[in-house]
Amino acid sequence: MSKICVIGTGYVGLVTGTCFADLGNEVACLDIDESRIHSLHQGIMPIYEPGLEQLVEQNVKSGRLTFTTDHKEALAGVEIAFIAVGTPSGFEGEADMQFVRSAAEMIAMTVDTPIIIVNKSTVPVGTGDWVQDIVLKCREGNQLDFSVVSNPEFLREGSAINDFMDPDRVVLGSENAEAAQKVAKLYAPLRCPVQITDIRTAEMIKYASNAFLATRISFINEIANMCEELGADVKEVAFGMGLDKRIGHSFLDAGLGWGGSCFPKDVKALAHMAVLHGTHPQLLQAVMEINRNQRRRVVVKLRKALGGLNDKVIGVLGLSFKPNTDDIREAPAIEVIHLLQNEGAVIQAYDPQAMQNVNEELHRVRLCDNAYDVAQDADALLLATEWNEFKQLDFKRIKSLMNTPVIMDSRNLWDPDRLTELGFTYFAVGRAPKNNQTKS
Ligand SMILES: NC(=O)c1ccc[n+]([C@@H]2O[C@H](COP(=O)([O-])OP(=O)(O)OC[C@H]3O[C@@H](n4cnc5c(N)ncnc54)[C@H](O)[C@@H]3O)[C@@H](O)[C@H]2O)c1
Repeated sequence: MSKICVIGTGYVGLVTGTCFADLGNEVACLDIDESRIHSLHQGIMPIYEPGLEQLVEQNVKSGRLTFTTDHKEALAGVEIAFIAVGTPSGFEGEADMQFVRSAAEMIAMTVDTPIIIVNKSTVPVGTGDWVQDIVLKCREGNQLDFSVVSNPEFLREGSAINDFMDPDRVVLGSENAEAAQKVAKLYAPLRCPVQITDIRTAEMIKYASNAFLATRISFINEIANMCEELGADVKEVAFGMGLDKRIGHSFLDAGLGWGGSCFPKDVKALAHMAVLHGTHPQLLQAVMEINRNQRRRVVVKLRKALGGLNDKVIGVLGLSFKPNTDDIREAPAIEVIHLLQNEGAVIQAYDPQAMQNVNEELHRVRLCDNAYDVAQDADALLLATEWNEFKQLDFKRIKSLMNTPVIMDSRNLWDPDRLTELGFTYFAVGRAPKNNQTKS
């Protein structure tokens, strides 16, 4: 059992701290956000993540998991401190490192016993050395026994606990093999592959992985756009491709493109790093451009279908960047809503979990109680996030509620033929009802 501090109680920090506590460690979770810690003390989760509330409750009860805003209390006697603070995009697309810097400085100014500082935040290549320099500078004349380990996180929101507890791999980078082994020991109960590398390689593995997954999505979206023109069905194309073991099925879903708190900022930051170091990230640039255009194509389709968007009522199903999360950071739905509003459309929307988060992002959007409320008097219905509860809607009822029966299924969730038979004008991404397909 180790004594750990996790700095930052967002999606990564809270899940990491809770899971390490569940594995038997003594964990103090530290955040500068008092309201977040206050909620956690009340047993209220500051984020929506399936299974998290129960796991937090169990581990708080067992006495292994605590929450605090007091850094001295959180770091007292700690052997390993995880930095899991945000690294949002800066002005030029670079990772904004202010939170990592303040966390590193806070550790350096607080701790007097040997400590391993673990970067779990997604940070630019070279950050391990930078954190080391920050600590050395803060401690001038008063040496601290410390080492830095990179331990990038690969969990996905919506399945974060499972991803943490059953990871494909754990990556650890350090110039200090003993420190890396100590962190590896924390993961031993998970019985997963552990790759130990130098620190820069570990940092790059994280960026390269996210950029590759984003590339797969942009790739299939580019194929989808060709399918639309050539009369092929991208869903079948992706399925056929995925059966090839060299390719596999994941991240080959055509749709509105990738969003969320990670891919957009990480692809941007990697491209920024590349340019700053004299290489030309032309593939990454294309991957980002395809993603931007994917949102715009949906707006073009709706504009054409409705003969203009001014004063048209568009019902939007789903606001979070993907199902099973309340996270709306860089959510495709939000971007599309802004584009539609710019052309005068009136938006009504519903999301099972994300509605309390959208108030600052969205203005003039009528928030609805359910999918049927969204369809009421709508000129078109746009599916933006493929939540399970949208899979089996009563489309006869939906049609009876709508002003004009136009559906933009931008996640390819529904059956094109069935909806066309029911009398909808149905659009999807890279596929069409069979009787509608263009053949050239
Ligand atoms: N969200 C994901 O799915 C995911 C997955 C893998 C990696 N990551 C990476 O993990 C990092 C954290 O992401 P997140 O989504 O959990 O962020 P988040 O924004 O949800 O949470 C960050 C938390 O850190 C706190 N914080 C900031 N500065 C602090 C300080 N000095 N001391 C204590 N607390 C501080 C904030 O108050 C906030 O609660 C990012 O680098 C992200 O790229 C995120």
